[in-house]
Amino acid sequence: MKDRRAAITALGTYVPERVMTNADLAKIVDTSDEWIRTRTGIEKRHVVAPGTPTSELGARAAREALRRRGLSAAELDLIIVATVTPDMLFPATACLIQDKIGARKAWGFDVSAACSGFVYALTVGAQFVEAGRHSKVMVIGADVMTSIIDYKDRATCVLFGDGAGAVILEPREDGTGILDFSHEVDGSGACYLNMPAGGSLRPASHETVDERLHYIKQQGQHVFKYAVRKFADSSEQILLRNDFTGSDVDLFVAHQANIRIIEAAQHRMGLPDAKVIKNIHEYGNTTAATIPLALKTALDLKKLEPGHLVLLAAVGAGFTVGSVLLRWSGVSWD
Ligand SMILES: CC(C)(COP(=O)(O)OP(=O)(O)OC[C@H]1O[C@@H](n2cnc3c(N)ncnc32)[C@H](O)[C@@H]1OP(=O)(O)O)[C@@H](O)C(=O)NCCC(=O)NCCS
Repeated sequence: MKDRRAAITALGTYVPERVMTNADLAKIVDTSDEWIRTRTGIEKRHVVAPGTPTSELGARAAREALRRRGLSAAELDLIIVATVTPDMLFPATACLIQDKIGARKAWGFDVSAACSGFVYALTVGAQFVEAGRHSKVMVIGADVMTSIIDYKDRATCVLFGDGAGAVILEPREDGTGILDFSHEVDGSGACYLNMPAGGSLRPASHETVDERLHYIKQQGQHVFKYAVRKFADSSEQILLRNDFTGSDVDLFVAHQANIRIIEAAQHRMGLPDAKVIKNIHEYGNTTAATIPLALKTALDLKKLEPGHLVLLAAVGAGFTVGSVLLRWSGVSWD
C-alpha cells in the first residue's frame, strides 16, 4: 500500500469585479503603463469596493471549492487561512470565514507568512491529513492588499491586488498528493518588507497615522535580489532531494510578485514557457492568493492533469521561503 498523502481535491477562487489598470494608477501617482509592465509584468489588478474585508473574499473562494467538490461546509474539519490583511488583528480570519460559510464542526487559525502564506498553510494542513487526524482540511489564501497600500508610494502601490483562493485537502493512497515541502525563514530580512505600525511595537496613534506607517514599506531592490536567489535555490533543492530535475517538472506554479523573478527561476531550472504559469499581468501580486489563482489559470488553460509533477514556490516578507512538490490528483473543473 502506498503512503497516505494529503492531496488537493478541490479549488475555488475569487477576485473582485472592479479592475484598476496601470493607466488608472498613472492618474494617481507619477508612473506609466510602460514602466509597470516592463519592470513587473503587471497590466491590471482586481480591487475590492472599499470596506470589503478579506473574510468576504475568502468565504466566496471557500464556497466555490466546496461546490465543485460537492461537499457541505459542515463536513470540514479544519480551516487554515493565510493572510497579512486579516479583517482585524483578532479574532483570526479563519473564525470569521468558519462562521460565514457555516463550517459548524471545523476549528481553524491564521498563518502569517506573507507571500509564502499559502504554501506554509498548505504544508501545515497536509500534516493533519497525513497523520490521519483529519480528512477534510480547507486551506485559504486571501488578501485585501489595497487595505494596506499607500497610494502616495509609487514603488509599492503598483504591485499589489486583491484576491482569494481556497483548496480542500483530503487523503489519497494512490501516489498522488503532496510529496515534500521545503521551508525556511530569515528574520534578519524583516526590515526590508513590512508594515511598521499597528502591532505591539508601534500601536496605532496619531503619530503613526501621520507618518503613514500603516502601509506596506519595502526596499524593492533588496527584496527582488533575495527573491530571485531563493526561488531558484529552494526549487532546485526540493527537486534534487526527491531525485528529480527540472525536466521532470510538468508545471511550475510560482508566487506572482514580479515576472522577472519568476522567469529567473524558470531559466535556472531550464523550464520552457509551456510549463510555467504566469498570470501576474491580470492580477498583480495578491500575496497569499497568488498560488491558488495560478492553479486556476493552469486549470483554465488545461495545463494540469492527474499525475502531473507540480512545483509550487514562494518567497515573501519575513523573509519566508517555501516550496511544495506534489503529484496532482485532479479536481472537478468545467
Ligand atoms: C519594486 C520593483 C518593481 C522596482 O523595480 P526596480 O527595477 O528594482 O526599480 P528601482 O527600485 O531600482 O527604481 C528604479 C527607478 O524607478 C523609479 N520608480 C519606482 N517605482 C516606479 C513607478 N511605479 N513608476 C515609475 N518609476 C518608478 C524609482 O524611483 C527609481 O528612480 P530613480 O532611478 O530616479 O531613483 C522591484 O524592485 C521589485 O519587484 N521588487 C520586489 C518586490 C516584491 O516582489 N515584493 C513583494 C515580495 S514577494
